[in-house]
This record gives sequence, C-alpha cells and structure tokens, in this order.
Amino acid sequence: MSNLSRLLKESWTLVEEQQDKVAGYFYARMFLDNPQLRDLFPVQMDVQRSRLLGAIVTAVQTSGDPDRFADYLQALGRDHRKFHVEAQHYDIVGNALIEALRTFAGDEWSYEYEQAWRDGYAAIAHKMIEGADADNANPPYWHAEVLHHERRSRDIAVITCRPMQPLEFRAGQYVSVETRYQPRLWRAYSMANAPRKDGSIDFHVRALGAGWVSSALVRRVRPGDMIRLGAPMGSMTLDRRSTRDIVCVAGGTGLAPIKALIEEMTRANRTRWVHVFFGARDRDDLYDLDCLNRLAARYPWLSVVAATSEDPESPGEHGNISEIVGSYGPWQEHDFFVSGSAAMVRATLRTLAEMQVPAMRIKYDTFGDS
Ligand SMILES: Cc1cc2nc3c(=O)[nH]c(=O)nc-3n(C[C@H](O)[C@H](O)[C@H](O)COP(=O)(O)OP(=O)(O)OC[C@H]3O[C@@H](n4cnc5c(N)ncnc54)[C@H](O)[C@@H]3O)c2cc1C
Ligand code: HEM
Repeated sequence: MSNLSRLLKESWTLVEEQQDKVAGYFYARMFLDNPQLRDLFPVQMDVQRSRLLGAIVTAVQTSGDPDRFADYLQALGRDHRKFHVEAQHYDIVGNALIEALRTFAGDEWSYEYEQAWRDGYAAIAHKMIEGADADNANPPYWHAEVLHHERRSRDIAVITCRPMQPLEFRAGQYVSVETRYQPRLWRAYSMANAPRKDGSIDFHVRALGAGWVSSALVRRVRPGDMIRLGAPMGSMTLDRRSTRDIVCVAGGTGLAPIKALIEEMTRANRTRWVHVFFGARDRDDLYDLDCLNRLAARYPWLSVVAATSEDPESPGEHGNISEIVGSYGPWQEHDFFVSGSAAMVRATLRTLAEMQVPAMRIKYDTFGDS
C-alpha cells in the first residue's frame, strides 16, 4: 500500500462512524458559502442518501494512482457537465470536504492527513476537469424524445427514445437519464442496442419499489415526453481484437447491455461462439426471452439458456443464474460479460473465480451498490 493510500485509509477511520454528520456538515459548508451551488443538486435532497460525498470519498480512497483510472475520471468529468459543474466548483467542493473531515476527526487529525486528502482530491479533480474541457464539442446533455414505451412485465418497461442531437456511444455502455418528473435526479441506464442509423436508443428499466427515477420511467413516462441523457460511460465493450468465444451472464434488466453487445456482433461476428445466460425471478421477468430466442434461431453462433430462481413450473433451467453458469463450462478460455444486480454480479464473479476464469477476461457492470 502506498504512503498516500495508508494516510487516506487511516484518517478515514477517524470519521467513518460519523458519516451522516460529516455529510451534513459538508453540504451545509458548501451551500452556506455558495448558495448558487444548491441549484445543481436534486430538489428533494436527503443528505443521508445524497451521492456526492460518498462518491468523492470512494474515488479518493480507491484511485491512489489517478493515471490508472484516467479514462473513468475523464468520463466522469465529462458526465458532470450535465449537472452544470464548472472548473471553479472543484475547489469549493474540495475545501468543504477537507473542512468536514477536519471538524469530525478530532485531535488526531494531522497536517499529513490533510495534505493526503488535498493531494488525492486534487489529482482526481484535475482528471475530471481535463475530461470536461476535452468534451466542449458535445452538449452537456442530450434532449431525447420518447418514441415508444412498452410495459413488458409488472415492473419492467422497454423504452425507445431519440436524442435531438447525435449521441455517439458503443454497445455495452450506459448513460444517465433524468425525467421531468424528478428534476435533477439522474440514474444510469444501459443502452440496449448497438448504435443505429436513425440514432434511436432502447432502454430496459425495472421499477424498484421506492425508486424515484426507475418508477417514473416505468410508470409515468409516455411517448412524446422529453427526457435528458448524460454522456455515455462504461467500458463493458467488445474487444474486437479478441478471438475468444464469449459468455454473457445477465440478471433481469442486466440484459440491456448484453443485448447491445449481441446486436453489435450480429453485424460482424462469424467466428466466435456466444453463450448467453439470462436469469430472472420468474417467467414474467424473462421479459425479452422471445427476442433472444429469435436471434439464436437466426445466428448459429448464438445460444441462449434462460433460468428462473423462484418459478419452479417455468420452462428452462431453475436456480440462480450464477449457479447455472457454473454447471456448464469449462470457461477458462472465454471472454465474459456480466451485468445485473450487485448480488447477482458478486455471485457470478465468485463462481467464475472458482472455475479459474482469469479476472482480466471478465467485464461487468453492477446495477447497484457493489
Ligand atoms: C452502470 C449502471 C447501469 C445500469 N443500467 C440499468 C439498466 O439498464 N436498467 C435498469 O433497470 N437499471 C439499471 N441500473 C440501475 C439504475 O441506475 C438505478 O439504480 C435504479 O433504476 C434505481 O434507481 P431509482 O432512482 O429508481 O432508485 P433510488 O431512488 O435511487 O433508490 C434505489 C435504492 O432504493 C432501495 N430500494 C428501493 N426499492 C427497492 C426495491 N424494490 N428493491 C431493491 N431495492 C430497493 C435500494 O436500496 C436502492 O439502493 C444501472 C446502474 C448502473 C450503475
Ligand atoms: C473529485 C471530485 C468529484 C468526484 C469524484 C465526483 C463523483 C461523483 C459521482 C461518482 C457521482 C454520482 C453518484 C451516483 O449517482 O451514483 C456524483 C454526483 C454528483 N456530483 Fe460529483 N464528483 C466530484 C466533484 C463534484 C463537484 C465539484 C460538483 C459541483 C458542485 C459535483 C456535483 C455533483 C452532483 C450535483 C451530483 C448528484 C448528486 C445527487 O444526485 O445526490 N461533483 N459525483
């Protein structure tokens, strides 16, 4: 562990148990000194659930080497343009962060700790600002018109929209989405198609019980509505130089980026076998299985295994999708794409580790706290 990482970790333990208070102080400091910044944040702002402080602390703690995370941090900075964040805001946020840490750490806070946070934060902020500056040719976000809205199950909808300006992305990436029903609340959703000539984009969204944005997307958004999309992010994309066969593991609407990757492969692939494992609780949640089966009937390199975990009468396999993947194989020579809830991704990564699949061959996106 580098000296910087050690200092960051050590000093964080001084405030860790008072995170809510640190967050309260951090936002109060920021908004008291700069009331205009309040307008960048969601209308109904619950400090405990607000994401910025936690996101910064995680970023500073984990990216001891910002060059290694340069692509992600630049994309994050680019994405922050949608919040109307400008370069001068970074110092304000950085100072509020340090002051909050110092206030709650007590007597053990030292000059060394403070410098470690300043250095860690500055390195990350620098990369984010670089990313935002390099993106000036693009709009800070894209307005998109909802063209179709189809309920596929109790709580899943497939939504097609078309951005008003060209939005370039790669299959497997995601964007953040905001609806007019929850202004300034943005959540990530994966594009469920490869780029199309007409620019339209599909999203597969599951409404989480009390979830703000997903409920609005599934239950309120209608054709004709405008939504806003942030800059594309994510590296769960196809390595076109690889010749290895592919395994895709999707849980629920985790199918979205997998579907985009399959669509990309229908345009070029002739040589790689692609095995898709699609898991859900019950047959109702296998909301796109018919389409996957049609693709498998058309493309001989594609095979699909569907499984339900809570529907013993449904056709196909039964059990958690991570276990089902483990019962096939061997998979040591395959490239993997894994996408779904945090629990599903974790369980699948465990199975793959047990099957000795090298970690560097696995790309994954987690749809929640990992
Ligand atoms: C890279 C990435 C890509 C994603 N792609 C997709 C996608 O393609 N499709 C998709 O549907 N989602 C996707 N997600 C998840 C999505 O971003 C949101 O997290 C999700 O829709 C919930 O947002 P929300 O505003 O509705 O919920 P929030 O208001 O943020 O609340 C969510 C939180 O509430 C809790 N919660 C409330 N109700 C429930 C419930 N019924 N079950 C479990 N927890 C609950 C959980 O603690 C959860 O953390 C993706 C996430 C990431 C990070
Ligand atoms: C090192 C600096 C920063 C990092 C690492 C960072 C990281 C992040 C991340 C990862 C999120 C998304 C969390 C999520 O939705 O899951 C986020 C949200 C946000 N960030 Fe930043 N950020 C930084 C600086 C800033 C600055 C300077 C501003 C300007 C005020 C800002 C404003 C916001 C806002 C408004 C949100 C949404 C908050 C919410 O929905 O509750 N960020 N940040």
